[in-house]
Amino acid sequence: MSELWFDSEWLTLRRRADHQARETLLNEEAHYWLGTRHRSHILDLGAGSGNNALYLKEWLGEQQHWRLVDQDAKLLKEAERQLEHALPEGSTVETAVADLANVRLTAIHQRWPIDLITASALLDLASQPWIDRLVDECVGIGAAALLVLNVNGHWAITGSKHPLDEVIRQAFNAHQERAKGLGTGPALGPMAVHATEAAFKRAGYATQTGTSVWKLLAGSAYTKALGFRLINGWHQAACEMLPDQSDEFDVWFVSRQTDLANGQIGIEVGHTDLYAEPVAG
Ligand SMILES: C[S@@+](CC[C@H](N)C(=O)[O-])C[C@H]1O[C@@H](n2cnc3c(N)ncnc32)[C@H](O)[C@@H]1O
Repeated sequence: MSELWFDSEWLTLRRRADHQARETLLNEEAHYWLGTRHRSHILDLGAGSGNNALYLKEWLGEQQHWRLVDQDAKLLKEAERQLEHALPEGSTVETAVADLANVRLTAIHQRWPIDLITASALLDLASQPWIDRLVDECVGIGAAALLVLNVNGHWAITGSKHPLDEVIRQAFNAHQERAKGLGTGPALGPMAVHATEAAFKRAGYATQTGTSVWKLLAGSAYTKALGFRLINGWHQAACEMLPDQSDEFDVWFVSRQTDLANGQIGIEVGHTDLYAEPVAG
């Protein structure tokens, strides 16, 4: 089980930025793929409070059948509540509390044939062995995969520069690579999406990627709310990685929170979305 628990408030707060950022071409690819299957069984890994399904429901046609898996029962309850009346007519949603470290797609597939595997904001928590197994199993059951909002390590504070921005960014990226409980060994963090694409390519899948960048413009109440949490998280991660520089990072934190509150800075956070499909159909 991962030690990382995500609060519902954070997932709700980021929903708007997530949904605005996503690469729509990949949704269309997934929709066409489901059309060829004449059935839409969609497995959402690390579904949390249902952000991914809430977004994709507009793109994946009629009668969508969702299975949401997460370790957090409370988030899944929230997802059920959100999705209850939101999906197209004839659709269904079921949830399962499980540790993804042990989930076997093949076992699920035997009871409930999977057409599309999806996950949002999950892959960067995973280690190489977990990714390799996910890809192997996905290939074994012949499903397509839509894995989105994977942190790619690019973020920037726009509007003004601070000499410590880059040090903090690098420390945060290094922090992302600590073990997160999804498979043994370190998480791949910003490299996870590239490792996953490479594994799908080796397995003969056709892959496509797109960027999905959070663009938080200076001055808005939304930027201030989400930005506060981001700067807080970056600061904490940097202090954990480089404790000797905590005092300097504290000064950076106060300075950047003040800039944010005064509407002087915006924030961009880069993600990469990946779609992979079996070539033979
Ligand atoms: C960043 S959140 C993303 C949630 C949701 N997909 C979204 O886009 O809002 C990551 C999710 O993965 C889940 N998660 C992380 N590690 C897990 C594990 N080992 N087993 C099951 N769920 C896990 C967390 O509980 C959380 O809901």
